[in-house]
Parts: sequence; structure tokens; C-alpha cells
Amino acid sequence: MFLEKPIIAINFKTYKESLGDNALEIAKAIEEINPHLKAKCLPVVVPQTVDIRLIAKETTIPVFAQHGEAFDYGKNTGYTTIKSLKNAGVTGMLINHSEHKLALNKIEETIIAAKKEDLYSICCVDTIDQARAVACFSPTYIALEPPELIGTDVSIAQKDPEIIEKVVKKIKFIQPNAHVLIGAGIKTRKDVEICIENGASGVLLASGVTKAKDIPTVLFDFFGR
Ligand code: G3P
Repeated sequence: MFLEKPIIAINFKTYKESLGDNALEIAKAIEEINPHLKAKCLPVVVPQTVDIRLIAKETTIPVFAQHGEAFDYGKNTGYTTIKSLKNAGVTGMLINHSEHKLALNKIEETIIAAKKEDLYSICCVDTIDQARAVACFSPTYIALEPPELIGTDVSIAQKDPEIIEKVVKKIKFIQPNAHVLIGAGIKTRKDVEICIENGASGVLLASGVTKAKDIPTVLFDFFGR
């Protein structure tokens, strides 16, 4: 399922609009629009940790975690381990989101730990140099998100679509099997299509859904075909 078609991953961040019952409602709305995950793009939801088990139990939409620790079971307090996320029902996880940065050695450790649990990973990067640095760790996806565009209404797809093709090529030069996602400012299906046409394997977005005035209509735009 993954890697066979482009993904649209929706990060719920810590927005109130995508917490608890709201989180479940969004995931169920996606499922209703796209009942057997048959649409051109595979949906992925990335809820807050406390909502993972509920969404994974109540829907068939793949659920990713926003972050997880590469610890084993044992004497640790106040952390959420990758093992516990797997137990709660995730299929994958974000690593090194620009709002939850990790040192390079931690990124590697986390990617390895996710692989051990058979989880997909989306390793986020701010720059092409960072993308090159993490490419050798072979996460499932590398998501490039220019931090200055996060939460805005301007995506790279609108601002500079040609740069997507260049970025994908540069990353694939280091890691030919890399799958690149584009994030930040993605608001419409048109944005998604521009990213895919330019070689991306999908997108990572948040406010386009979570802060939308009419969430069902936006979801239909993304997943209605
Ligand atoms: O994780 C996705 C995110 O950082 C992009 O946010 O609100 O620009 O879609 P947004």
C-alpha cells in the first residue's frame, strides 16, 4: 500500500480542532470519502499520542505518531516509546519534525528503532543539506518542509514548483530509493498534484485541514478522487 501510491499525511499537531473527538471525526470523514483507501492518494493521519489508540481502533486509516523514543521497555518515566506506539496501533511515525528537532545521531537511532518495529518513517528536514544527511539512514520518506512556510498559505508548489524536481533529484542522487514528501503551506489538491508531477511521493500538511473553516469540503478536495 505504502510506496505504491502517493500519500497525503495530515499532521494534527497540538491543534484543538484535531484533538480527541475532533481527531476521530476527521479520520472518520476521510474514511467515509475514501472507504477502501482506493483514491489516488493514500491518506495518513498523524494525531496526538493520546488519540492514537482510539483512531487506530475505530478506523482503517493508517495512523502515524508525531514522535517516539527509541527506548526499550523498562525504567524510563514520562516518555512514549516506539514500542508503545506500535502497541497502540501506529503504522509509522514522524521523526525530526521542525517543531520537534533531534540531533543527527538521535535521528539515526530513531529510524533504526522504527525499522525494528516494522514501522514506516517520515524523516522531516528543513533544508536540502539536511535531506542529504539523513538520506543515508534510509527512512521510508524524507519530508522537506521550509520552516518559514509552515502554517502559511504559501507552498513551494505555488512559490517555486521547479525547485521540487531539483530537490527530488538531489536527494535521489545520494539515495536512489528515497521517497520525498513536500510539506508546509499545502492547502489544495492542486498543490498536491504539482508536488507529485515534480517527482514527490506525496505531501505532509497540517493547517490546510485542521484550521479549515469547512473541514469535510477540504477533505473531499484531497481524497475525493
Ligand atoms: O507537519 C506538517 C506541517 O509542518 C506543515 O504545516 O500547516 O503548513 O500544512 P502546514
